[in-house]
Amino acid sequence: MFVSAAVIFGAFLAFPLEAFPLANRKVSNQSNSLGPLTFRADGTFQISIFEDLHFGENAWDQWGPQQDINSVRVINEILDKESPGLVVLNGDLITGENGFLENSTVYIDQIVNPLVTRDLTWASTYGNHDYDFNISGDAILERERRWRNSRTSPMVSGPDAGVSNYYLPVYGHGCVSEYICRPQLILWFFDSRGGFKYQQKDASGNRVGQPNWVDASVVDWFNQTSRGLTRRYGKVIPSLGFVHIPPFAFYAAQGAGVDPNRQPGIDDDLPLAPQAQGWCRDGRNDGTCTYGAQDTEFMRAISHTEGLIALFSGHDHGDTWCYKWDKLLPSMDVTPANNISLCFGQHTGYGGYGNWERGARQVKVSKKGLVKFEAGTWIRLESGARDGRVKTQDRDDDVG
Ligand SMILES: *[C@@H]1O[C@H](CO)[C@@H](O)[C@H](O)[C@H]1NC(C)=O
Ligand SMILES: *[C@@H]1O[C@H](CO)[C@@H](O)[C@H](O)[C@H]1NC(C)=O
Ligand SMILES: *[C@@H]1O[C@H](CO)[C@@H](O)[C@H](O)[C@H]1NC(C)=O
Ligand SMILES: *[C@@H]1O[C@H](CO)[C@@H](O)[C@H](O)[C@H]1NC(C)=O
Ligand SMILES: *[C@@H]1O[C@H](CO)[C@@H](O)[C@H](O)[C@H]1NC(C)=O
Repeated sequence: MFVSAAVIFGAFLAFPLEAFPLANRKVSNQSNSLGPLTFRADGTFQISIFEDLHFGENAWDQWGPQQDINSVRVINEILDKESPGLVVLNGDLITGENGFLENSTVYIDQIVNPLVTRDLTWASTYGNHDYDFNISGDAILERERRWRNSRTSPMVSGPDAGVSNYYLPVYGHGCVSEYICRPQLILWFFDSRGGFKYQQKDASGNRVGQPNWVDASVVDWFNQTSRGLTRRYGKVIPSLGFVHIPPFAFYAAQGAGVDPNRQPGIDDDLPLAPQAQGWCRDGRNDGTCTYGAQDTEFMRAISHTEGLIALFSGHDHGDTWCYKWDKLLPSMDVTPANNISLCFGQHTGYGGYGNWERGARQVKVSKKGLVKFEAGTWIRLESGARDGRVKTQDRDDDVG
């Protein structure tokens, strides 16, 4: 796994984190006021993934705000049981179609309150429901960044890139400065967009759909940046990825058969909804096509990036399994080269469709397991039970 031994120390010093353009958008001045993410003294690092929270439904009815109270309770109950070093909010934080322009993002304050109370930091990806006529990734980001605990920091500019595309390095225990430490783990966040364009209507007065896949500009950025990190540190740094809408490979894996013993979890959304669903190859989304394949380059990139252990998605509330993508799957032409695990989390919010028990996927890596590019993962349910425990690789590691 080791690339050429040359550690280009000069280049390392010349490219601190800020050198990556923060895109041309208004983010607060707090991007680096948090200390670096670090492993615990015991050599582990844990992530709790809250996804599909769907805050802000029907604010004018009693049941909408009540759902949000219930969702806050879920977050609190899970955090009473788990001790993550980072929380990931993996998309559909808010049900944007119910929002009013003037206050569609205020729900962020409610979502993050349990995290702020515990002094936890978080990182978001935005989902299709976070983009609508009265809400946008940029608007949510603005609200998030009022809290210093937010690590969401867009790194790809451009009109079609979406917002939540960035990476976060995680350093060894005791690291105090990202300028001198070497990352032990890289976390990649991708924006699968979707939903509708902010404050835009077409000639007939309808909302304008936004493509629902990771944009090509982001795939290029990921390819270049991950190779740049490998060069800079002279080795492949293990990594994990997060994206709200699963790419088509999840769909193909489900079609090939999810086995309750080998891929434990719920498999009720059958078939699941992947990126590029409802779009045509020529870019139309007029309801005439089922899948446009625009996520192919993204799938090629994630399945050929050495050291990328797993990709975590939400979106399909009725699916919670993990699948090791280790071969060419039927109806696909991307052959994976890195055995990446494709993992759903668990529907966390009381908003959004479905009544499967609420919960949150946990991911735990150890320095020892990462040497073999392994991570451990399980789901913590609202009831407190622990479910669906799997390793992302077949071999044992010391995690979990
Ligand atoms: C920048 O930081 C200062 C000091 O923490 C704070 O008062 C100010 O509101 C911040 N600016 C923005 C845009 O968040
Ligand atoms: C957007 O917000 C405005 C202002 O509150 C409201 O009047 C309108 O109904 C909302 N539009 C949509 C499509 O939700
Ligand atoms: C948002 O604004 C609408 C319309 O102005 C109002 O009815 C609603 O109570 C507000 N919601 C929140 C959460 O402040
Ligand atoms: C990354 O870019 C290089 C050069 O353009 C290309 O050869 C390679 O296939 C790309 N890799 C991935 C994983 O997309
Ligand atoms: C992927 O897993 C297969 C077995 O499922 C194994 O033969 C192969 O060596 C693995 N490849 C990598 C890159 O780990």
